[in-house]
Amino acid sequence: HQHYLQNPSYKDFHEQLEAYTASYVQQQGAAKRTRATLYKIPVVVHVIHNGESVGSGANISVAQINSQIAVLNKDFRLLNTDSLLPSNGFWPYTDDCEIEFCLATLAPNGLSTSGIDRFNYGQSTYDYADIDGIIKPNTIWDRNKYLNIWVCKFGGSASTLLGFATPPGAPVDEDGVVIGTTNFGTTGNVASPYNKGRTATHEIGHFFNLRHIWGDTFCGTDFIADTAPAEEANYGCKSYPYNANNSCGGDAKGEMYMNYMDYVDDNCINMFTSGQAARMQAALNGPRSGLLTSNGCGSPHSI
Ligand code: ARG
Ligand code: ZN
Repeated sequence: HQHYLQNPSYKDFHEQLEAYTASYVQQQGAAKRTRATLYKIPVVVHVIHNGESVGSGANISVAQINSQIAVLNKDFRLLNTDSLLPSNGFWPYTDDCEIEFCLATLAPNGLSTSGIDRFNYGQSTYDYADIDGIIKPNTIWDRNKYLNIWVCKFGGSASTLLGFATPPGAPVDEDGVVIGTTNFGTTGNVASPYNKGRTATHEIGHFFNLRHIWGDTFCGTDFIADTAPAEEANYGCKSYPYNANNSCGGDAKGEMYMNYMDYVDDNCINMFTSGQAARMQAALNGPRSGLLTSNGCGSPHSI
């Protein structure tokens, strides 16, 4: 569902972005992050519901929203308690992305806000046309200053989704991340096995220009050197090592199925690599740089 990927001006943009990203990542090197600087991202959560009272059904509770922000602040800092142990072959590749998230305290109109924006759109479920055509353009906050997250119940053309995201270069009124109600956060209206908040971790990875680790084709590329080659998406849960010496030239460590940018269950994914961290920081210093000077969480905190 990324029609604009086909459009020629987006292709140009994408080629230039890839060249910029490669040079940024090369300058940074593959070393572990220094944890010297943190990127702080103001977030607005648009809760799209059907008139339920706050805390019921699609009109999710503040506690559920806070539980998702807490997951993001662990996963993007390598503070998640399920991170790999040194005995795992992929442990050396795990890294802190140095990115933190805050619910916005200042709205685009300059008034104070909870960072939570509730909307009754009068439907029990929403499909792509509803979301991209109506909900997003009518609710979005400046995408250069806020990470917009919409939370709603998917239906119709979107019914099998957990979430979806726009990479850098998306149309201004569509840019952000959409997460299904029951896959958002860790408490409240959540459903196993997608009840650990990892759908948002994954989709925000896309928002910061990460690809799936298998590159979306058999043995494809994600343009990152330190994510092990993978044949295709993995589902459910795997045990290490999985698919060792695979047909894409993988080694004895097998596939990095525990990477947030694979498709396995929430409680079986737990890492970004140094290369992914560098690539996300490239996006933050490139097409997403507006977020670094945003005053959405008070005075800007940038590098
Ligand atoms: N866009 C993917 C989907 O809808 C998200 C996968 C997230 N994976 C997860 N374990 N939460 O299927
Ligand atoms: Zn994805």
